[in-house]
Amino acid sequence: MSLNCLVYVSLANQEMSDKHLQDLLKKAREKNEALSITGMLLFRDGFFMQALEGEKKDIEELFTTIANDRRHRDVLQIYKKPISQRSFPDWKMGFNKIDDKSVAAIDGFTDFLKNPTPEFFMHRASEAEALLDQFKHQLFF
Ligand SMILES: Cc1cc2nc3c(=O)[nH]c(=O)nc-3n(C[C@H](O)[C@H](O)[C@H](O)COP(=O)(O)O)c2cc1C
Repeated sequence: MSLNCLVYVSLANQEMSDKHLQDLLKKAREKNEALSITGMLLFRDGFFMQALEGEKKDIEELFTTIANDRRHRDVLQIYKKPISQRSFPDWKMGFNKIDDKSVAAIDGFTDFLKNPTPEFFMHRASEAEALLDQFKHQLFF
């Protein structure tokens, strides 16, 4: 057993309505359940951040599939690291919309509001982790 967490960011290629997001999550949750993958997907104005938790091999394979998904682009891995326990154990894939309050709670995050790009997080793994952590106990749908 080698439990790992992989976090990436990306940009949507299309308008993502709640219906689009719900369809995506329905399929993702079914597949994640079969693979014992948990995690959190965050969305704001065409920007995605996702944490995938599970067996190293399983999250690597899934990440390859996700990275090739045409619904988004500029997929950038922020980190992948061994973890002793899951941060989102109850969620086959949690989902939240990043709001101003959650962003304001993290130091230095006003930049993110002005410019939510994958590049912003490239060298800010701890900020990405802190942002995901804000949503640990919330579920949008
Ligand atoms: C932003 C984003 C996040 C996704 N997250 C997941 C996920 O957590 N689990 C999953 O199985 N698929 C996820 N997908 C969908 C996959 O890219 C893929 O369509 C799905 O796994 C089915 O792949 P398959 O038909 O090769 O089995 C996500 C797609 C996008 C665009």
